[in-house]
Amino acid sequence: MSPSRIAARVRRIKPSPSTSAADRANELRRQGKSIVNLVVGEPDFDTPAHIRQAAAAAIEKGQTRYTLMAGTVELRQAIAAKLERENGLVYALNEIIATSGAKSAIYSAFSITLEPGDEVIIPAPYWVSYPDMVLACDGVPVIVACPEAKGFKLTPTQLEAAITPKTRWLLINSPSNPTGASYTAEEYRALADVLLRHPQVLVMTDDIYEHIRFDDRRTPHLLNAAPELRERTLAVNGVSKTYAMTGWRIGWVAGPRDLVQALDTLLSQSTGNCCSVSQAAAAAALNGDQRFIGESVATYKQRRDHTLARINAIPGLSCRAPDGAFYLYVNCAGLIGKTTPDGRRLGEDGDVVMHLLESVGVAVVAGTAYGLSPYFRLSIATSLDILDEGCARIARAVAELH
Ligand SMILES: Cc1ncc(COP(=O)(O)O)c(C=O)c1O
Repeated sequence: MSPSRIAARVRRIKPSPSTSAADRANELRRQGKSIVNLVVGEPDFDTPAHIRQAAAAAIEKGQTRYTLMAGTVELRQAIAAKLERENGLVYALNEIIATSGAKSAIYSAFSITLEPGDEVIIPAPYWVSYPDMVLACDGVPVIVACPEAKGFKLTPTQLEAAITPKTRWLLINSPSNPTGASYTAEEYRALADVLLRHPQVLVMTDDIYEHIRFDDRRTPHLLNAAPELRERTLAVNGVSKTYAMTGWRIGWVAGPRDLVQALDTLLSQSTGNCCSVSQAAAAAALNGDQRFIGESVATYKQRRDHTLARINAIPGLSCRAPDGAFYLYVNCAGLIGKTTPDGRRLGEDGDVVMHLLESVGVAVVAGTAYGLSPYFRLSIATSLDILDEGCARIARAVAELH
């Protein structure tokens, strides 16, 4: 097919590297190879029963038609109540829009605001989709490397240096995929002090992992630390990770009315409202019994502690304890320059990842995909047995290097 049939803004983007890594692992498994898949970025739990039942009831009640574009009143009330109860943030229903997942919320927010050449500051390591979403909207991703020594977090000095007259957005994801790093209220305040000097900069907070954290503390929100930023902040979240609802595709945006209205207009002319049945399920998730969160987070924590200890015991690998989310971002600098038994030199983290896959059948994602090397991301959203097997194999693959 002629590439010219595809618009330049789409030719600039690439498929999600984590999806490609998962596809490669599945292909090897189909060929009969034993694969330990540590790529997946979704909870391995089923959606809790009371949420599934709410969806079934919605179908029986005939809630199968178009809804308001912004989402049903019930869902937006549930989101508003959640924002007030959990985050201390007050939003009116016309400042909230439900979307088909946080992913489409973020893409759509760029789409309604970016003019060609507008810049979006993305601290790295970042979620793989951010830069490509910006490119797909004719924007320019401005990647700011946030090294491990600084906790993988953006500093005020780095933010100040990255802002130009073309800066349209700062994007913050806390706890972060892939590092699990999360900002404290004090760190947010310091970033906000910089932002206040640059009124043209909007802020998007991707709060999708807010509940998955390991220190029994609430994840602070930027707007708790800096309420003055409310009129230029879009708070993005959803039910995917918190309630094991990745397939239901419900996310949302809370923010100033003009931006939410523009999202409503764009989505009304593109995707339309998100799934009516999923909206009923999401409302039940937000309004209902919250015990699933504590139980699932306890399980993630056990896996994190166990896997972290095993990885840190492997010579050449090290990993900082993530505050939240369900990944380990493993530093593999100690393996770069080593040689595999068949004589290949490991020049970068992609080579390490390829060696793990080919020699011991462990699938992880290379740090290059997240904008900071040399690392690989390992998902702990799988059973302890699988994690144990994965760690044992990684140790074997590392031991055979010289
Ligand atoms: C940081 C981050 N934001 C957003 C999403 C997408 O969430 P949703 O399923 O709501 O589209 C993901 C999913 O992997 C993610 O890791």
